[in-house]
Amino acid sequence: MTTRAVATGIGHYLPEKIIENSWFEDKLDTSDDWIRSRSGIERRHFAAEGETTSQMAVEASRKALAMAEIQPDQIDAVIVATSTPDLTFPSVATMVQSGLGMTRGFAFDVQAVCAGFIYALANANALIVSGQAERVLVIGAETFSRIMDWEDRSTCVLFGDGAGALVLEARSGSGNSADRGILSTDLNSDGRYREMLYVDGGVSTSGTAGKLRMQGNPLFRQAVEKLASTADKALEKAKLTHADVNWIVPHQANIRIIQGTAKKLDVPMDRVIVTVQDHGNTSAASIPLALSVGVAQGKIRPGDLLVAEAIGGGLAWGAVVLRW
Ligand code: UT7
Repeated sequence: MTTRAVATGIGHYLPEKIIENSWFEDKLDTSDDWIRSRSGIERRHFAAEGETTSQMAVEASRKALAMAEIQPDQIDAVIVATSTPDLTFPSVATMVQSGLGMTRGFAFDVQAVCAGFIYALANANALIVSGQAERVLVIGAETFSRIMDWEDRSTCVLFGDGAGALVLEARSGSGNSADRGILSTDLNSDGRYREMLYVDGGVSTSGTAGKLRMQGNPLFRQAVEKLASTADKALEKAKLTHADVNWIVPHQANIRIIQGTAKKLDVPMDRVIVTVQDHGNTSAASIPLALSVGVAQGKIRPGDLLVAEAIGGGLAWGAVVLRW
């Protein structure tokens, strides 16, 4: 018998305010056509004034817990993937804990930028298979609208806000790739590439939160190659191939990256969950948002084999193979 971390609940939250591409046309030298054709983005959600990352995370978590039919106090650990915390500390995860009324367990944040949810899943899986936790709430939540330079047209049109949450529970499996749950993970980072995507402020430098800076085109080229390779490695670790994949659930940064990666993996686009048109790039929230939408639309069904993959600042990238 093998212990598996099995998904039992998923939920998401998107702020009410929807910003169409046309909103940027009055403010910047850009167009709906440029944004759509270069990135696939049509609209994104922005948090309201005063709306925080932890509040969005709590809303998404309530839905995930309801689907899993468990109470907050049955959760042993809360992991939040975010680069846009409410405060430098305490962690967003502890704010979620108190927001949900949890009085037990432990909570911490993971910071791997757009790859954060993949890193959080790998951590949650390790806690469950090693017997340190039976039920883990894994969240990706971001307010990237707070770190945009509104004069930089090459970045501010691309990002959005939102949160997604997943409940993982320990279940026994037979140890083969037919099991439900997380079957393999693959994590990578390479700090030599840190200037491709970073924020130009921080606690021990400027004392400010800073603004996002990105070398979009070089990053684009790194992304397709690294995403395909990490997804391949994760499939190999699970003793599976691209032919076994029901759904790729990619980080939603750019439709052309999503298409290029799917092509390299030899998976047709009708087996890829795509939400970038409606959410923009929500960094660590993008995979749980896409998962939640895919489940709500009835595309992702119990027993389906999923590959989630993401890359972001660091560079940090990785993939998870999961049977729903
Ligand atoms: O989530 C983390 C991972 N993130 C990513 O992986 C993002 C990766 N990068 C990308 O998605 C794409 O590189 C972008 C969407 C950011 C840009 O697309 P691109 O095809 O790489 O365009 P580019 O950067 O080569 O720019 C092409 C042109 C430039 O003009 P010139 O120099 O050719 O005259 C830019 O100045 O488009 C210009 N441009 C814009 N034009 C209108 C840049 N931003 C805009 C804009 N509106 N908003």
